[in-house]
Amino acid sequence: MRPLLFLIISSLLYSCESVEKLAYTLFLEEDLLKRPEAKRCSECHQDIYKQWKKSRHSIAWISEHFKKTSNNYSKVKCLSCHAPYEVNFIEEPVVRDFHRKDGINCASCHFKDETKSMHGPYDVFSPPHYSKKDINYTKSGICAGCHKETYKEWKKTKSKKTCQDCHMPSKKGKLIQKFPFYLFHSKKDIHSHSFPVLKAEEDDIIVKLKKGKDTLSVFLTNINIPHKLPTADQGKPKLYVKVEFFKDGKKVDEDSYMITHKEGINMDETKEIIFYPLHDYDSVRVSVSRKLAWKKEKEEITKFLVPLRDGTND
Ligand code: HEC
Ligand code: HEC
Ligand code: HEC
Ligand code: HEC
Ligand code: HEC
Repeated sequence: MRPLLFLIISSLLYSCESVEKLAYTLFLEEDLLKRPEAKRCSECHQDIYKQWKKSRHSIAWISEHFKKTSNNYSKVKCLSCHAPYEVNFIEEPVVRDFHRKDGINCASCHFKDETKSMHGPYDVFSPPHYSKKDINYTKSGICAGCHKETYKEWKKTKSKKTCQDCHMPSKKGKLIQKFPFYLFHSKKDIHSHSFPVLKAEEDDIIVKLKKGKDTLSVFLTNINIPHKLPTADQGKPKLYVKVEFFKDGKKVDEDSYMITHKEGINMDETKEIIFYPLHDYDSVRVSVSRKLAWKKEKEEITKFLVPLRDGTND
């Protein structure tokens, strides 16, 4: 009955403010304002829920690696960002003491006690729960309370691109999928809640080589990614540079170097790595790869073979 009644009333008086108020009274689902699990939000926001389920945020608490490194959740200082109560602009969150397995869930990122509303990028009519437009959601600062180091690095680069521009790419669609409610709502930009784990491409890094008397210098410049390569707060991702030395087509030597996030390369920065080959060589094969904090395998970013009798490769 309720949907029908609502249809009739709203088609007659849709723009009327008092009808909006009435709709919120009729359709408010109180439990949504009590920080329910993400599954509850999926009753209407199915598509976004599916994306989130694939994200690292949804497993931030149950990740085996986190369980182990936090000493089976006994290190209290580790818990806040992995099961936050309320995410605020730039501030580090406090930990919540319920639904912890849900990790960084919908309500923790969107619901604010202060307004008893879901904060988000739009001005919407959302009778099942109150909503409030909050432009902080379109800024990098909303990620900064947890991704503290990455945010600091990003600030230094003065990049115009936000974290969301790259890690929440958008596509037109409906915010809700529940019938018949979605009929009342226009398409909007949905920002990917899978928070895609990206990978640098060949064009993001410039590699230059210089042959010295007994050395080979490899210069790496990050030209596109507005935080360190690799970047991390707590995880331990790595970047590897491997060099193979050749003489008359035969491999005579090889060596590699590991870059941790502490010495990561920020945008527009160049890092020089010096190798000391033991044999004379006339060409080298260089490959750059990365390893994510939570993966065992390395992934290649770039690889090339160049003749290098003396001097540089440019
Ligand atoms: C200020 C927020 C914050 C706190 C506090 C925090 N982490 Fe994290 N953690 C993050 C973020 C952000 C990531 C995402 C990857 C990265 O940038 O390192 C992460 C990722 C991780 C990862 C890698 C992902 C995985 O599941 O394998 C591990 C392990 C981890 N944290 C363990 C810990 C431990 C142990 C502590 C306590 C010593 C801790 N974290 C405290 C924010 C935090
Ligand atoms: C019964 C349906 C329903 C449920 C369940 C529901 N929502 Fe919504 N939500 C809506 C509707 C309707 C809109 C407005 C959609 C539109 O205008 O396109 C909305 C909009 C939103 C917005 C956008 C707000 C803005 O200002 O940009 C956010 C964020 C949001 N919901 C979060 C949540 C969270 C978090 C949960 C779970 C705790 C949840 N919703 C559960 C119906 C629901
Ligand atoms: C409440 C703290 C918190 C907030 C806010 C937060 N994150 Fe995270 N993020 C984490 C943690 C913790 C992880 C690691 C989860 C894991 O791997 O177990 C993570 C992982 C990630 C990853 C994957 C990293 C990897 O090592 O593969 C990306 C990408 C990411 N977050 C982007 C964002 C963006 C973009 C925002 C802002 C819109 C954001 N995060 C907001 C805590 C947070
Ligand atoms: C790490 C924090 C974080 C988590 C977790 C999160 N969101 Fe969001 N959400 C955001 C941000 C940031 C935006 C705004 C992106 C923008 O406008 O650039 C957003 C936008 C939205 C919007 C408006 C449409 C859009 O994509 O811009 C809705 C609806 C929404 N979220 C619902 C949800 C639901 C439902 C869940 C859980 C399944 C969820 N969010 C989990 C941070 C989060
Ligand atoms: C111009 C696009 C761009 C912007 C803006 C950006 N990143 Fe990234 N980010 C990337 C790329 C590409 C990678 C992959 C680097 C690699 O190959 O390891 C990455 C890597 C990461 C990682 C490591 C795991 C992963 O996804 O590979 C985290 C965590 C992260 N970014 C968080 C952030 C946060 C937080 C912000 C905002 C302060 C941000 N990024 C801004 C492009 C971007």
